[in-house]
Amino acid sequence: MPPSRFVDPFGRFLDYVRISITDRCPFRCRYCYPHEPFSFIPHERILRYEDILYLLSLFPSWGIRKVRITGGEPLVRKGVLPFLVKAAALFPSLYMTTNGYFLKESAPTLKEASLKGVNVSLDTLDGTSFCKLTGVDGLERVLSGIDTSLSLGIPLKINAVAMRETLDQIFPLLSFAAARGVTLRFIEQMPISSDPGDSFLSQEEVQERIRTRFSLEPLPLEDSASPASLFRIPETGQTVGFISALSHPFCHRCSKVRITSDGKIRSCLSSENELSLLEALRERDPTSLEKIFNDSLKQKGLKHCFQSFHHHRGRTMGQVGG
Ligand code: 5AD
Ligand code: SF4
Repeated sequence: MPPSRFVDPFGRFLDYVRISITDRCPFRCRYCYPHEPFSFIPHERILRYEDILYLLSLFPSWGIRKVRITGGEPLVRKGVLPFLVKAAALFPSLYMTTNGYFLKESAPTLKEASLKGVNVSLDTLDGTSFCKLTGVDGLERVLSGIDTSLSLGIPLKINAVAMRETLDQIFPLLSFAAARGVTLRFIEQMPISSDPGDSFLSQEEVQERIRTRFSLEPLPLEDSASPASLFRIPETGQTVGFISALSHPFCHRCSKVRITSDGKIRSCLSSENELSLLEALRERDPTSLEKIFNDSLKQKGLKHCFQSFHHHRGRTMGQVGG
């Protein structure tokens, strides 16, 4: 594969694209959905699968190394499973992030598509707190989705957003992951759609809690683009990661851009600068598309601008794609 064609003004190469295929989701995680009224993007403005597949067909020659399909919840979009099979055939280094609610029934197709990895969001193993946090009584479905995927050999990781109200879930989540040989990553809440307020739990606090029982040995980064810092827990042999945009920013090694489900490219999660790919995509115009990618990278800031809990109002996290 050629090296990436895209380099930003600070010398970072872009080789990772996250594509949101829908802003809809059956859950209403409170850190993701805003408290004030919002509306979903109307269907007619959502990128068509053919447009996304066309874009994927260009990526290898541009030196894009990794693509992650996100949402909202990607598995709610009609026709998503045949789309994923086609997408992975065009672009083999394909990953997906899901809330796991439709994972059990999707797993055989995900296996068939040979997705490189699936990240499942799971913040708690307690049914009542799951229901409170997501608004849906869906813990059992998510857990069976995880186990079905693992039994089929789908490479999987678990992402847990760290919250003060689920502090008691740190050890249950760690043992759940250890029993399955799965990497668990704790994510610091970012002030995207709502203000974390007192619910914010820092990496330091999660680690402090873990250290009351286990030790944490630092591991090298999985790959230079990964936002997660990794540790090994020697007592259990498991790997635990921390994605801590606020306390340990990883902007200096950020190599990604995001594409929203209405076809806008956003070079930084924390910035509202977006450029539309829609017209160039519909015209199948690779030169314009490449130019828009380059223009977007020119807008990429050196660091995120999540001022301590400043409220970002433009889009919900589900609309930007996590
Ligand atoms: N801060 C941190 N992570 C978030 N996610 C959604 N909203 C936020 C937020 N405000 C996570 C979800 C999922 C991924 C797509 O993004 O839990 O793991
Ligand atoms: Fe849905 Fe994920 Fe947002 Fe929760 S965090 S509401 S699962 S998109």
